[in-house]
Amino acid sequence: MADRFEGFDAQSVRGEWNMAADAYAAAQASGRDYYRLDFFGPAQIALCGEVRGLKILDVGCGTGYFAREMARRGAFVTGVDLSPGMLAHALELEATAQFGIRYLTGDAARLKEYFDGDCFDMVTSCLALQDMPDIPAALRSIHDVLVPGGRLVASITHPCSDTPFRKWAKDGSGTKRWLCIDRYFERGPVKYLWKDWLYEFTTSAYHATLADWFGWLLDAGFALRSIHEPTPAAAAVKAHPDLEDASRVPYFLMFDLERTQ
Ligand SMILES: C[S@@+](CC[C@H](N)C(=O)[O-])C[C@H]1O[C@@H](n2cnc3c(N)ncnc32)[C@H](O)[C@@H]1O
Repeated sequence: MADRFEGFDAQSVRGEWNMAADAYAAAQASGRDYYRLDFFGPAQIALCGEVRGLKILDVGCGTGYFAREMARRGAFVTGVDLSPGMLAHALELEATAQFGIRYLTGDAARLKEYFDGDCFDMVTSCLALQDMPDIPAALRSIHDVLVPGGRLVASITHPCSDTPFRKWAKDGSGTKRWLCIDRYFERGPVKYLWKDWLYEFTTSAYHATLADWFGWLLDAGFALRSIHEPTPAAAAVKAHPDLEDASRVPYFLMFDLERTQ
């Protein structure tokens, strides 16, 4: 699969996220990302369970959203990300609010170089793994820094709905009728244009199939505890009717895995 990663490597990914960082941080600070704040964020937080006192590494922490959620709940958190630009925003927030989070610039595929052996009770990763240039290496590396019995609780964009071709068919009034997807088996890097009134930037992610993902997770040595396809709560859809589409098709896939030895 290495040839499919051509042109999509740590350097290009770092560059894209550095360029995206200010806009991404501004969008988060606006509080308008209700998919995150009212839907997949709370779902992944719930999946983590009780984290008080745990030593947690948040991988692909970006501007620190999930690291802060874990720290708020009493965990001792370290965040690692490839992009100094994204981390600069995490550090800025840390300087003002002091969650006690340690941030580190680094590659998820090389965690053993930064941490001494297996040392984390839990690794979390919020919508970052699919953006990594070498996902199998990142999963092996995460496995190696967990204590035996430690968990990886991660979310990714759902590989079955986030395909290289993906478009909502709408009726004349703009109502979403159905999601058209295609090219599911076309593995490889895909460009994403993020566009809103606040921002416009491009990043890349690696599209893989569901079977690829589970093959990589098992090859890395993880035991699967559970998988989840979260849907928004009725109250969230009532508050943000746009969220209704996420109760019709699976947008996110979450897994709870364990290092068994
Ligand atoms: C979509 S953002 C998610 C950030 C954050 N977890 C959040 O929920 O806002 C993906 C992040 O993954 C990071 N990333 C991509 N490849 C990485 C790698 N190999 N090692 C560490 N971080 C990586 C990017 O720099 C970016 O900050």
